[in-house]
Amino acid sequence: MRCIQTFSAVVLLLTLFMILFSTLYLETTYSHKDEPKPLSVQVHDSDVTMQSSEKKRFVQPHPVDVLNVSVFEGLRQTIPQNGAYWNRLLYSALRNLEQGKLAFRDDWSHCRGMNRELLLTNVNDFTSYPVLFQDFLQGMNCRTSPLLINQPNKCSSSEEDGNNQTFLLFAIKSTPGNFEQRQAVRETWGKERVYQGGLRVRTVFLLGTYPLDAIDLSPMLSFEAKYFGDVLQWDFQESFLNLTLKGNMFLQWTLKVCPSVSFVFNGDDDVFVNTPALLSYLQSLQASQASHLYVGHTISTAYPHRDTDNKYYIPLSFFDGPYPAYAGGGGFIISGVLLQPLYSVSHVIPFFPIDDVYTGMCAKALGVSPEAHASFRTFDVREQDRGNLCVHKDIILIHQRSPVQIKKLWKGIHSPLLTC
Ligand SMILES: *[C@@H]1O[C@H](CO)[C@@H](O)[C@H](O)[C@H]1NC(C)=O
Ligand SMILES: *[C@@H]1O[C@H](CO)[C@@H](O)[C@H](O)[C@H]1NC(C)=O
Repeated sequence: MRCIQTFSAVVLLLTLFMILFSTLYLETTYSHKDEPKPLSVQVHDSDVTMQSSEKKRFVQPHPVDVLNVSVFEGLRQTIPQNGAYWNRLLYSALRNLEQGKLAFRDDWSHCRGMNRELLLTNVNDFTSYPVLFQDFLQGMNCRTSPLLINQPNKCSSSEEDGNNQTFLLFAIKSTPGNFEQRQAVRETWGKERVYQGGLRVRTVFLLGTYPLDAIDLSPMLSFEAKYFGDVLQWDFQESFLNLTLKGNMFLQWTLKVCPSVSFVFNGDDDVFVNTPALLSYLQSLQASQASHLYVGHTISTAYPHRDTDNKYYIPLSFFDGPYPAYAGGGGFIISGVLLQPLYSVSHVIPFFPIDDVYTGMCAKALGVSPEAHASFRTFDVREQDRGNLCVHKDIILIHQRSPVQIKKLWKGIHSPLLTC
């Protein structure tokens, strides 16, 4: 009898212990979900009145001042005024700006309501748009999103060398499941370090979330984020059409956390970058060039794809006209001093579903033209040169390489045995 009693007591204790342990474990691994989500930068135009208690919750290190936003004539010359929805939105935003009002504010919670009604009224063939495209339009005014994983100290190092200045910040578009790609980048071109001449390189990976019914990677991600200190994640769904939002969130974040960075690289996690070649190119720039640099593989005359099966499909009733010149989104460089103007002017330019085209539009509005550079190969090199290390030694960026290829190329171009 006594034995049974002792046994049940032990079992009870063990069960309690296990429950307690698993709760603790869950609490630590999921803690980032329970914390009040840090709303990073919130910009409000003068029309918006808020409770003073609400105001305190928002950090506003870089409010967008309407007076400081002006749009170059070149944008009007490139993008025609016509009946397409986006074109109408742009011209209405430009009229607002003339009256001293910003068209768009950073909104998240009230940005979807009643949109469908409005869209059905304004876009006559809205229901014939692909489902994801309809979804993009409904969320077009959702311009900011809560940060789930932050790296608030990314650009302030406590290292003794006293060199806090970030020369180059790699901002790499990734997705939660691409762990292997991130690891390859971390071990090679995106490794955080100080290069010759004291040039400090830092890296962040930009992530959204997977749908709720997908496998939950958040425990792994929060571990990865803590361990490597380079993961940023926002609370919006990963999707090609959400990349413009991702870019905007990155701008907000950088202006807050790394405001004095010299150059920013924006690109994909499946590219190969020859970091030393990139750094020596950046260092060779004249001051006047360096202050408004927007360089990459430049696409100077492009029109929207009208084929519904194309990844880049744009309905005619949505946008009508050519694209301003833009640097291919596989990887391009922008001067740090351009980040604030770009972010400001994005409050006038409606979100566009293709992120690199959107950057081109915002740059055009600022009067900045992308510079073409032959060493940015977002469309790859000739087939017969793909295994040629000497070709890669002079190239700055090359698109679509697997994690294994990235590591091999990196090792190869650094090999002392390589003679070109
Ligand atoms: C670098 O940043 C650290 C921490 O933010 C600070 O203590 C230090 O004074 C900074 N060094 C320089 C040279 O600015
Ligand atoms: C973009 O993210 C939002 C927020 O998670 C989501 O509701 C929307 O469906 C996403 N858009 C697309 C086009 O996938």
